[in-house]
Amino acid sequence: MVWQRFTERARQVIFYAQEEAQRLGTTWVCTEHLLLGLLRDSDCTAARILVRMGMNLQRIRDEVEHRVNRGEARYGVEMHLTERAKRVIELAYDESRRLNSGSIGTEHLLLGLIREEEGLAARVLSELGATLEVARREAANFQEQQGQRRGRLRRVDQPSRELYHPQLPAYLESLVPPRPAILQAMEAHAKATDFPIVGPVVGQFFYTLTRLTGATRVFELGSGFGYSTAWFALAVRENGGGEVHHVVWDEGLSRQAQDFLRGLDLLNIVQFHVGEAVQTLQQVGGEYDIIFCDIDKDGYPASLSVVKQHLRVGGVALYDNMLWSGRIWDDSDTSAATQGIRELTRLLTEDGDFAVSLLPLRDGVLMAVKLK
Ligand SMILES: C[S@@+](CC[C@H](N)C(=O)[O-])C[C@H]1O[C@@H](n2cnc3c(N)ncnc32)[C@H](O)[C@@H]1O
Repeated sequence: MVWQRFTERARQVIFYAQEEAQRLGTTWVCTEHLLLGLLRDSDCTAARILVRMGMNLQRIRDEVEHRVNRGEARYGVEMHLTERAKRVIELAYDESRRLNSGSIGTEHLLLGLIREEEGLAARVLSELGATLEVARREAANFQEQQGQRRGRLRRVDQPSRELYHPQLPAYLESLVPPRPAILQAMEAHAKATDFPIVGPVVGQFFYTLTRLTGATRVFELGSGFGYSTAWFALAVRENGGGEVHHVVWDEGLSRQAQDFLRGLDLLNIVQFHVGEAVQTLQQVGGEYDIIFCDIDKDGYPASLSVVKQHLRVGGVALYDNMLWSGRIWDDSDTSAATQGIRELTRLLTEDGDFAVSLLPLRDGVLMAVKLK
């Protein structure tokens, strides 16, 4: 019954897991074989989620291979799932239901593996920095983006829903001056892993704004692997130096950001924090010239009071994705993310302490200057 709900790819992973168990000389498929099976399909959603979490697939594979029990390879024998592996399947089913997904995909198997907690797979994933909370969020983001992509495809037939003239995005990008190779490598990495970044046009705008305002203190909420951070930090360095705070809740992404920003020689400017971004701003405290918010969109409205408190008078708050691929105009879309963006727009535009402009760059950047 549960098997019928498996996607083609998830079934393939189970098949790979059996092969892995046979290769390692056992007739029992354990959690580590399921994990090795997942890792054999580096293009599956689970593998992409692991990469988005800043994890290195080869490192996970090496760690499992290093610790797994092995014997003589045994092919052509009947295979069975261990109790722990069965539990992973049950948990995957439960995770798929929690996400209101109609089927069990590789991402749910990954969540099941992490949530099972006791098997070798869960131990390796946890030791390398995976947490259930972050993996769940990434799985939900993935699901949402896939829905968005399907929406965009549908919109090809509805030109009135297109945000811009088809030539505008490429034209704006052609006006961005040559940028360091590392920024371009980060853009390629985002594309390869389907990771959402602000992109060069918005990055260049952040750079220009930071130079214009002479900002030396910038706080970023929801920094990913550090792409937007790099643009702010490059400008702060040109402004004479200062501090740019990078915050993300997964350690792997923070490490990746450190590697990229080291390549740009920006480690003396950027301070790295791992945790929930709004809470981190509260804990770190201080007043900032610019605060940029790019966290999960349902969290936008609640972030505003904290952002306002830590912005100096004359400082600028920036929020990304304020057009949300046009979904803000779709009355039937009442998802928490879309509602969060609508509510933040209302709160900021009705707050007399701010002068607000929504700039239609890429997915919409809202810029709010704190007047008093
Ligand atoms: C859209 S991406 C950020 C991209 C980044 N601003 C850039 O353009 O390079 C948002 C990142 O922040 C993380 N995130 C979302 N909400 C967060 C929160 N409340 N606290 C910490 N991290 C968060 C997400 O997991 C993701 O890695």
